[in-house]
Amino acid sequence: MRKQIAAANWKMNLTYQQGEKLLDDILDAKIGLAAHQHAIFAVPFPYLLMTRSEVEDAKNYHAAAQNCHHKKSGAYTGEVSVEMLHSIGVNYCVIGHSERREYSAETNAMLAEKVNLCYDSHIVPIFCCGEPLAIREAGTQNDFVAAQLKESLFHLPTDKIKEIIIAYEPIWAIGTGKTASTGQAQEIHQFLRSVIAAQYGEENANEIPILYGGSVKANNAKELFSCPDVDGGLVGGASLVAADFIEIIKSLK
Ligand code: PGA
Repeated sequence: MRKQIAAANWKMNLTYQQGEKLLDDILDAKIGLAAHQHAIFAVPFPYLLMTRSEVEDAKNYHAAAQNCHHKKSGAYTGEVSVEMLHSIGVNYCVIGHSERREYSAETNAMLAEKVNLCYDSHIVPIFCCGEPLAIREAGTQNDFVAAQLKESLFHLPTDKIKEIIIAYEPIWAIGTGKTASTGQAQEIHQFLRSVIAAQYGEENANEIPILYGGSVKANNAKELFSCPDVDGGLVGGASLVAADFIEIIKSLK
């Protein structure tokens, strides 16, 4: 079975102590994950080592960075490179979250550079795509997300694209309490998979987990994840509450 993933995106929330307690509470629930199920915690940079050591003994639990710089190294004060993440044993990195695209002016071309650096350091990119409300209202969301994939990912060879995790996050659903319906989620996830299949073949496209993000909660995760092309979620708000994220992990197929 294709990998199913519950990924927490803490964003710029929680103190170190609160984060540690949250991880303790989630790990104390001892949710045994099947071989195809994974839980990933995308935490602020200063919490990565702590998170890594917290999840060390739990099978299929991982730490992730929320971002990395698009240049390899150099005079970029305040930035964190992929090589730095690799050197502390981080194996996953969120790339191109809509908040970074918006507030840090990240372009598809810049994200392609980040993706390449991740592969160079054996870090799996969790690549985010998704349309703003105006695009959804105009009905052109498919073209919009297809362009995001093509411009940032389709230069990759097959053996690399096969490793990627994609997160579809409609911007109008992030932090708004508005969730895509299961019909909307399944439709666009299936479309994304068909775009990948057209480039890399169906067999490869079928291996790539496509997560849904945007107001995933304890009470809607199971329904969303039950869609055949929805392989789990990237979760913001609800990942900050232990009981909620526990429920979301338990909702994985
Ligand atoms: P949300 O955030 O679950 O709070 O909507 C999702 C995300 O931005 O990854």
